[in-house]
Amino acid sequence: MIAPHGGRLVERLDFSERKREEAREMPRKEINIDMARDLGNIGHGVFSPLEGYLTREDFENVLEEGRLSNDLPWTIPVVLDVSREEIDKIIEGDEIALFYRDTPIAILNVEEIYPYDKKKYAESVFRTTSIEHPGVANLMKKEDHLVGGKITLLNDPPTMFPKYKLWPKETRILFKEKGWKTVVGFQTRNAPHVGHEYVQKTALTFVDGLFINPLIGKKKKGDFRDEVIISAYEALFRHYYPKNTATLSILETEMRYAGPREAIFHAIIRKNFGCTHFIVGRDHAGVGKFYGPYDAQEIFYEYPDLKITPLFFRSFFYCRKCGSVVNEKICPHGPEHHVNFSGTRIREMLLRGERPPELMMRPEVADAILQYDNPFVE
Ligand code: ADX
Repeated sequence: MIAPHGGRLVERLDFSERKREEAREMPRKEINIDMARDLGNIGHGVFSPLEGYLTREDFENVLEEGRLSNDLPWTIPVVLDVSREEIDKIIEGDEIALFYRDTPIAILNVEEIYPYDKKKYAESVFRTTSIEHPGVANLMKKEDHLVGGKITLLNDPPTMFPKYKLWPKETRILFKEKGWKTVVGFQTRNAPHVGHEYVQKTALTFVDGLFINPLIGKKKKGDFRDEVIISAYEALFRHYYPKNTATLSILETEMRYAGPREAIFHAIIRKNFGCTHFIVGRDHAGVGKFYGPYDAQEIFYEYPDLKITPLFFRSFFYCRKCGSVVNEKICPHGPEHHVNFSGTRIREMLLRGERPPELMMRPEVADAILQYDNPFVE
């Protein structure tokens, strides 16, 4: 089995009633569901080797080098922002309790409180400071200081899809039980079109198992809603996937839309789940025209020490001449023969209540999506 990132699967859990009671006596900070989910991810080792929120040295190193201060690849800051009023109430060395609604999710050991440069953050992580970029827009709304320190998870964050929720410890057991020595991970924020299916099945041809791992969590307006993604994949699995070589499980965290840097982050997470390979296709984790179609593949050459093997795919499309789904590497015909899996076109048809053509989307998948009045985030 592939080693987790940094060599050891992090586990920072204390589910005792005593600890939960203690948390109720501590200074309290309210958090939202996305923050609660990321605490779950830290506590259960999805973000191994992180044991908490980045302290300043690691944070600066992640921005400047795309690595933690011990040189381990890490590209997306996992940080907690705090307001001036909050800073006045805490000092370094304190323990504070992080509450979602009335549940203590975690205790944070406040190691360091520090200011940060949002412009530098945006340029390093998103390669832009434009607030048209949804990741930058989110960043600009954050407070001006960060708190670094280790956390202890006291309660699992609530999940929308318990049936599909597995932590890395569990996926590692699952892969072992299935006898998969090589497993390819697939990240997605979309309901599947035929192009997605081809990328997955082409990759699966070369490995033992396929781990489809849709991202569930905050997304931008116009993206598919989480329940729609799950229903669509259920339909695809029911009709088109072999049970002994493919499995579906969710990753609960927000989309950052950080393109190349997020592709590395996505790969690290799947390595922690036990994947040996990771799919990176066209414009992975991209948004609008902020990244080149293959920038998210290029960045992997800067990380020869990642220890999970990326599988790169050129853009898949349907070719009327070939009579099949192909990409520019294997199809000699001109663009006049090609039908692209355009997300925008598919979206427009679904919004009109129409099934996209079968060569773009499986009819069973389209029907699963069309059950919803509005399948998209508003
Ligand atoms: S993402 O934001 O999660 O990357 P999406 O769910 O559309 O968006 O993509 C999931 C994975 O499939 C990514 O690696 C992406 O590059 C790849 N992909 C999507 N469409 C295609 C396509 N037509 N050809 C090749 N790869 C694709």
